[in-house]
Amino acid sequence: MHAVHTKATGIAGRVAAVVVTVAVIGVFNASASGAHPNPTITREAWGSTAEGQVDRYTLTNDRGMRVRILTYGGILQSIEVPDRRGRNANVTLGFDNLADYVAKSPYFGCITGRYANRIALGRFTLDGVTYQLPINNPPNSLHGGTVGFDKHIWATTPFRRGDTVGLVMTFTSPAGDQGYPGTMSSTVTYTLTRDNSIRMEYHATTDAPTVINLTNHAYFNLAGEGSGTIDNHLLYLNAKRYTPVDPTLIPSGALDPVASTPMDFTRATAIGARNRSGFEQLVIGRGYDHNWVLDRRDSSYVRLELAARVLEPTSGRVLTILTTEPGIQFYAGNFLDGTLIGTSGRMYRQGDGFALETQHYPDSPNHANFPSTVLRPGQTYQTTTIYKFSTGH
Ligand code: GLA
Repeated sequence: MHAVHTKATGIAGRVAAVVVTVAVIGVFNASASGAHPNPTITREAWGSTAEGQVDRYTLTNDRGMRVRILTYGGILQSIEVPDRRGRNANVTLGFDNLADYVAKSPYFGCITGRYANRIALGRFTLDGVTYQLPINNPPNSLHGGTVGFDKHIWATTPFRRGDTVGLVMTFTSPAGDQGYPGTMSSTVTYTLTRDNSIRMEYHATTDAPTVINLTNHAYFNLAGEGSGTIDNHLLYLNAKRYTPVDPTLIPSGALDPVASTPMDFTRATAIGARNRSGFEQLVIGRGYDHNWVLDRRDSSYVRLELAARVLEPTSGRVLTILTTEPGIQFYAGNFLDGTLIGTSGRMYRQGDGFALETQHYPDSPNHANFPSTVLRPGQTYQTTTIYKFSTGH
């Protein structure tokens, strides 16, 4: 049983596939053919699931960025950003149709919850009670279970605030959903800002003690989705330690130093430079699929701090990730195997995209030494992550 929201936007029943302009301020600079209007946000019907109609919102700013977001799973379906010469490309992996997202998406662009990443054997004990979650990544539970937050339609309200536009998305997961205790009310606010950032703010409350770990699972290829390998992307991670995993990708509990290993991205390094090194952790993950322990000055997880920076040298596109979270999963698309055809009609092969998932560490409910993921009634879960796009050399 899953809670099904009615649309906060108030469009009842089936609506013809018209684009509804929510807010468009058509201020053009008469002389500049390349000028962009002020921020806009529009909505179109994009198919339906058993829960109802799915909408796709298109957000633009006046710096040439265009982001498309689905009410299904809060999926970032397309992120178009300029390269160093001003040419746009869609830098996130995805599909051009809803059916593929529903049937076979490896978590492209979605809100991932209730618990992003793995929980060992799908089991945890809280206040003396043991809970069993679905085993959807044997022998573990992955990304919130069989029907996680990525597979629901979120009630969505668009907004325009100054020079930004955005969406407030809400979803209520009933007590017992996917085996988790507590009715969880969650809100994710996406904002497209004038400095080419997507700001993601997560809020949640519960009516009984539970665990929570929300993230976004966008895959990126800064040369453009479908353009081939991400091996040449230069990755910097603000992390001197990572959480090594067992053969089922569950952390041992150790926080190991990255120094002198292929896990060291404290200096920007090509993703492909060391991923065939034979280092045991990379063999286990078939490449990079690990959580890094972010070096933070603020250990209360309130302040936004730098987590990662990625530069694609040919286009000059740069992705900078800031977060309040203690960890980040760097997953290098190891399980993409050529069976998916992406948004622009090209096949995705192993290593054609990477995900950088800001989060609490995997399997935290079973590791007392990891930052806690417990949420209790009266508390508000609150995290923020920013994907900022720019260009550089
Ligand atoms: C996460 C996991 C990976 C993989 C992807 C989805 O990043 O860590 O092992 O399951 O999601 O394919």
